[in-house]
Amino acid sequence: MGFHGQAIYAFILHLFVSGTGVLAQSSNQGFVNLDCGLPRNENYIDNSTNLTYYSDYESISTGKSYIIATNVISPSVPRQYETVRSFPTGSRNCYTLEQAVQGERYLLRAGFMYGNYDGSNSNAILFDLHVGVNFWKTIEITNSSYTYEAEIITVAVANFVSVCLINTGRGIPFISLLEMRPLKDSIYTLANASQSLDLYERVYMGPYAVRYPSDPYDRVWQPWGPAPGWITISTKKSIVNYKDDEFEAPSAALQFAAMPANKSRELNFDFGDGHTTTEYFFIFYFSELVDLSGSNQSRILSIYLSTDTDPWAEPFSPPYLRGFYLHANGFFTGRTSYNFSLQATENSTLPPIINAIEVFTRLVSTEATTNLSDVRAITAIKNQYGVKKNWMGDPCSPVKYAWDGLTCNSRGNDPENIIGVDLSYSGLTGNISDSFALLNNLTYLDLSYNNLTGAVLYSLTTLPFLTVLNLSENQLSGRLPDPLVKRAKAGYLVLQINGNDDLCGYKNSCKGDKEMTTANIIILVMVAVPIVLISVVFIIYFFCINLSGFSSDMSMQPLRSETMSPKEEFSPAHLMGPMQYMAHEVPDMRIEGRQFTYRQLELITNNFGRVVGKGGYGIVYHGCLEDGTEVAIKVSSKASTQGRKEFFAEVRSLTKVHHKNLVALIGYCMEGEHLALVFEYMALGCLKDHLTGRTSTAIVLSWKQRLQIVYEAAKGLDYLHTGCDIIHRDVKSSNILLGQNLEAKISDFGFSKVSGSSNRMDRGSYVGLVGTPGYIDPELSTTLRHTYKSDVYSFGVVILEMLTGEPPNRNIDGDSHIAKRVASKVAKGNINAIMDPKLRGEFCQNSVWKVVDLAMRCVALSSSQRPTMVEVVLQLKECLDLETAGQPNGSIEDDVRLSSALAVKTIKFAPAAR
Ligand SMILES: *[C@@H]1O[C@H](CO)[C@@H](O)[C@H](O)[C@H]1NC(C)=O
Ligand SMILES: *[C@@H]1O[C@H](CO)[C@@H](O)[C@H](O)[C@H]1NC(C)=O
Ligand SMILES: *[C@@H]1O[C@H](CO)[C@@H](O)[C@H](O)[C@H]1NC(C)=O
Ligand SMILES: *[C@@H]1O[C@H](CO)[C@@H](O)[C@H](O)[C@H]1NC(C)=O
Ligand SMILES: *[C@@H]1O[C@H](CO)[C@@H](O)[C@H](O)[C@H]1NC(C)=O
Ligand SMILES: *[C@@H]1O[C@H](CO)[C@@H](O)[C@H](O)[C@H]1NC(C)=O
Ligand SMILES: *[C@@H]1O[C@H](CO)[C@@H](O)[C@H](O)[C@H]1NC(C)=O
Repeated sequence: MGFHGQAIYAFILHLFVSGTGVLAQSSNQGFVNLDCGLPRNENYIDNSTNLTYYSDYESISTGKSYIIATNVISPSVPRQYETVRSFPTGSRNCYTLEQAVQGERYLLRAGFMYGNYDGSNSNAILFDLHVGVNFWKTIEITNSSYTYEAEIITVAVANFVSVCLINTGRGIPFISLLEMRPLKDSIYTLANASQSLDLYERVYMGPYAVRYPSDPYDRVWQPWGPAPGWITISTKKSIVNYKDDEFEAPSAALQFAAMPANKSRELNFDFGDGHTTTEYFFIFYFSELVDLSGSNQSRILSIYLSTDTDPWAEPFSPPYLRGFYLHANGFFTGRTSYNFSLQATENSTLPPIINAIEVFTRLVSTEATTNLSDVRAITAIKNQYGVKKNWMGDPCSPVKYAWDGLTCNSRGNDPENIIGVDLSYSGLTGNISDSFALLNNLTYLDLSYNNLTGAVLYSLTTLPFLTVLNLSENQLSGRLPDPLVKRAKAGYLVLQINGNDDLCGYKNSCKGDKEMTTANIIILVMVAVPIVLISVVFIIYFFCINLSGFSSDMSMQPLRSETMSPKEEFSPAHLMGPMQYMAHEVPDMRIEGRQFTYRQLELITNNFGRVVGKGGYGIVYHGCLEDGTEVAIKVSSKASTQGRKEFFAEVRSLTKVHHKNLVALIGYCMEGEHLALVFEYMALGCLKDHLTGRTSTAIVLSWKQRLQIVYEAAKGLDYLHTGCDIIHRDVKSSNILLGQNLEAKISDFGFSKVSGSSNRMDRGSYVGLVGTPGYIDPELSTTLRHTYKSDVYSFGVVILEMLTGEPPNRNIDGDSHIAKRVASKVAKGNINAIMDPKLRGEFCQNSVWKVVDLAMRCVALSSSQRPTMVEVVLQLKECLDLETAGQPNGSIEDDVRLSSALAVKTIKFAPAAR
């Protein structure tokens, strides 16, 4: 068949009349269609897809339903958008889609139309969406009658998928529509457990949106608006995909193709959001719609990217009525925009065509998720007691939205474990859930002040790390499991049972025990006496063998350890208590957030033998864990009841903070009067000592070492600010500790305020009074309110100390503060007068001036003029790079990544060019 203009128009007209081809309707396998805010139990069939949409009631327990304003409702507004669910309370609200299967790939789509549902005529609402534990995107609503959509292809990491709406303080989050479609295993394989594909654009060349049932996966293929100078050709014949197609674009979307309207031999289009860091994945679909066989016509095209001279895609001919696509083997990144040019080659008689395009951006899964067996157990507990709180989405992650009352730990990228559960004062009724026993790493369980009844489960004794069990003020009854009582009596478990009158076996003996006593004693004597006798005989026997030279090492060991008291010797088996089965496993004791008993601390510190410091909090002792790890133990002097509650709250927030530039909390002790925190030990002490040369072990730090130290400390502080929303409140050079290799870590953020988590810190003592003279933000004298910028001020003082080697306030200068002293020298432009004489002029002027400038900005009197910690980190990094001359800062790496993405392109099923 020949090819000429008239024929093309004929095709188009014909098709516009008949509409896009419709496939026979198949059953909608596994689709989740939620019309958010629809009343419970209601559902309806959507006219355009014939899919049934349901109320979201079963998938979420929070939020309120609303109907959008009547003046917004019109026939063009899909029914799904007529109701919304809005979340005026809670910072994270999550849908749980339990239809998901772990490891399967899904297309998730969320829709939003404000429709003035709350009558407040908001004209800007911003909130974040998370999928699972990871950030998905920010939704910005500026037009109340516009339907906003977000779509992502993601892999379920559990047997559910959660979609969370995050209140970021810029309007009340709401949602109109939520859909989930399972995808075949073999398509969009780039989406996996560690990365998702966020839809940027999906277009085809036809007039109306194509979706289910034409697309069995219900992708929505939007018409590409009328491109100037382009015309469309189309066919009614169906387009067939090759076997093993990685995307399975539907025939309905490939039946249209665009080509230049004039005699031009190229099609140009571009994409990009202006950010060089965005990573794109482009898929271009081609299918020849004109039968060129037997004619002497040919359509051969190649694709050029931006100004590159070599084509991105070598010449190819789209196959006739077959689905063909091109994509790079990875993500494009590093450019602000991507201009693609489809060009006909010289020997091509026909202009280029294109049928459809999909563009995705990459979303990396950064957050660790909670260990799945812990999720299952805590979910069962949540369901059994009907716990509301903020128990939605992932229990431990992200840290900021972790479930109230849970303490978690994680190691590197491993999933997080639940190690503490505080369900006190939670109105729990019924029995103690046996799911608690499935939280393998649990060290702390507080169920006090509830209405729990029944017995204390024996299964709780199987929790190997449990060190605190608080059951007080419930109505529990029966006998406490013997192993628990034994561990408690031996000091390995803090067991609190006050206020359970019918609970026996610990403080009070059980009924029946007394009557049996005499009989028991007789039996005991009858059994014990022979055992003792036999033991004595054995001991003497082995003793003799030993003496007579038939030495056997194995014989003495077990007998000795049976008679040894924990005080005399220290071994992991002993630490874990008398439960027999524990002796076989030597558990790793360095669990963050591990709870120590006071007796364990005595052992670890060799009876509090070596003092390594004193702080406002109390005395710091040196200690050694059973595996040889050195630790620093801060022991509080006195503790009131109120103090204990705050203490535990602090521990809970501290165990959630992990960063290599923050001193790690290894564990804590909370037993009666004794409160203590166990931290990793920093061998070289604090930065201040080395700068002032105060101690005998002080090192004269070189300029580069100083720079490296403040850079690392800045990273730690930045993480506290941006990662944890914690204001340190007492940044100073004596709170920057150095490890064996001079690695720097921030310490003493223990009593910082976790912003927004509670208002208990707003009481007088926390306002204005915290901090160390010389480091305190001058603005605090008027505002009385610590902010992130007050930490920046204090950090600026630390940088100045690092530069000058002088303390912030020097008595000999009267009241002159370091910021004033340096400022006057800066004004004179005399760098050598500023710098620490101990450096003996060994530094590079460029980087020094940059650092001085940065420090002066940090100590600006007005907080608004100070940089954020993020900026401080970046600036210090630049200074370090200046010092480490010749080492570029990563741009080369990006180039390599871009060029490799370009080079390794995949051309699948490419037919030979004619
Ligand atoms: C959808 O179909 C139902 C029943 O056939 C009809 O009542 C309703 O008006 C239709 N809605 C639209 C928007 O076409
Ligand atoms: C929906 O179902 C009706 C009745 O079964 C049918 O006539 C119509 O063609 C279907 N629509 C779609 C889009 O499949
Ligand atoms: C808001 O969206 C509607 C529906 O898409 C559109 O008709 C209208 O022009 C938009 N208004 C503004 C101000 O952009
Ligand atoms: C996901 O895919 C990327 C690139 O294709 C790969 O580097 C990564 O290891 C994959 N992750 C998993 C969990 O399979
Ligand atoms: C064809 O149209 C494009 C887009 O309108 C224009 O840029 C180009 O110059 C035209 N080429 C010819 C040969 O007319
Ligand atoms: C948590 O418990 C599991 C199962 O008992 C164990 O494999 C894992 O090592 C524990 N994690 C930690 C951090 O101790
Ligand atoms: C057309 O030209 C391209 C290079 O421009 C060449 O690779 C291809 O083999 C040629 N095809 C025919 C059929 O001549």
